[in-house]
Order: sequence, then structure tokens, then C-alpha cells
Amino acid sequence: MISGPTTSLTLRLQCRDCRTRRAEGVPTSPPTPKGGGGAERREKWFPVTVTADLVREHHVIERVLEALRRRVDGAAAGGEVPVAALRAIVTFSQRFIDRCHHGKEESCLFPCLERLGVPREDGPIGVMLAEHETGRRYVAQIAAALDAYAAGTAAAKAVLDPCRAYADLLQQHIFKENNILFPMGDGLMGEADQDDNRRCFERTEEQLGAGEHDRLEALAEEIAASP
Ligand SMILES: [Fe+2]
Ligand SMILES: [Fe+2]
Repeated sequence: MISGPTTSLTLRLQCRDCRTRRAEGVPTSPPTPKGGGGAERREKWFPVTVTADLVREHHVIERVLEALRRRVDGAAAGGEVPVAALRAIVTFSQRFIDRCHHGKEESCLFPCLERLGVPREDGPIGVMLAEHETGRRYVAQIAAALDAYAAGTAAAKAVLDPCRAYADLLQQHIFKENNILFPMGDGLMGEADQDDNRRCFERTEEQLGAGEHDRLEALAEEIAASP
């Protein structure tokens, strides 16, 4: 279990230049990514801190996790396992959650926080990294179980159990980042650290490929909008 200050994140998300932004019609808080238009909104929104950018991505991820739970509950209540829908969630998990979001945390934010004194071994960063790894194993397990189920060699339970475990893991992981680790990082990072992270985030997005982030957010919208 990680320990540290539990400062409310909302207190940390205040704009330094909110008044100017409002006058210019620029949003002063992260948009709630509902109803499409993610790409357009991201262009207009400039997060005050790099953790605010990650929190915004957490909102996108949480909407997909809600859809995952709906699908799992439906199948557990007697429906068919929705193989195609779950494969789309696996794709989103591998590309957006892991490569993009966890990529930014592991390549940019966590090394920065480690330099600033947040412990890795037996500390919050080590816990977060271990949970990312557990998430990867669940996603691989879900993908394999879906193939086996589609081939008629696995029961629904083999698919649904790791889906539930994955959703539970990520939900509590996001809670800890939003409420403990990120506020701790906001208190430690100076402007130069924020700038370094912003550049590192941009490099991570470039490595994903042009337009890939927006395509994946559109996929999240599709997944979330499905019944
Ligand atoms: Fe994380
Ligand atoms: Fe995260």
C-alpha cells in the first residue's frame, strides 16, 4: 500500500491564468470526455500540470472500464460473451492504456518523481509499476481466453474472471494515482520539471504515430457508447 499526503487533487488543478483563459474562451478545467469530440477538445485544453493531463486520460480509461463491467455483467447474467466488443477493449488497453498512458508514466513522470525523492523500491513508484505489470498480464490472459472461447475450448468464466480482475485493479490504481501519487508529485515538481515532462509526453505521443492518440480516444467513445 502506498502512503503519502492525501491532498485533494481538485485543489491542485487551479489555473494560474484562469481569468485570461476564460476571457479567451479557453477551458479552465479538464473536459469530461463524453459525447465525442475528444481530439478537438484536447487541442483547446492546455493542462496546467502534466498530472492533470494524466487525470484527463484516467477519465477516458474509466469510461472504458465501465463498459467492460457492463459487458461482463451481461455475459454473466446469461448472455453470450461479446467476443468482438471485448477484443476492442483489449486493443484499447494495449495501445492507449499501456503504450500511451502507462508509457508516459513510466518513461516521463515516474523517473522525474524518482529524481525528486519519491521512492521506487518498496515505495509508491514501485507499487504503481508492479500494478502496470499485473495489468499487462491480465490483458494477455483476456486476449488468450477470448481466442480459446471463440474456438470453443474455454468456458465464459475463463474470459470473465480476468476481465473483472483487470477492471478492479485499474480502478483502484487510478484512485491511488489521482489522490495520492499525483498530488505528491505536484507538490514536488517545479516549472522546469513540468516542461521536461511535457516534452517527454510529446515524444511518447510521436512514437505512437501521427493521429493514433485521437483514434484511440475515438475508439474509447465507441466502446463507452455501446450498450
Ligand atoms: Fe499508472
Ligand atoms: Fe495512470
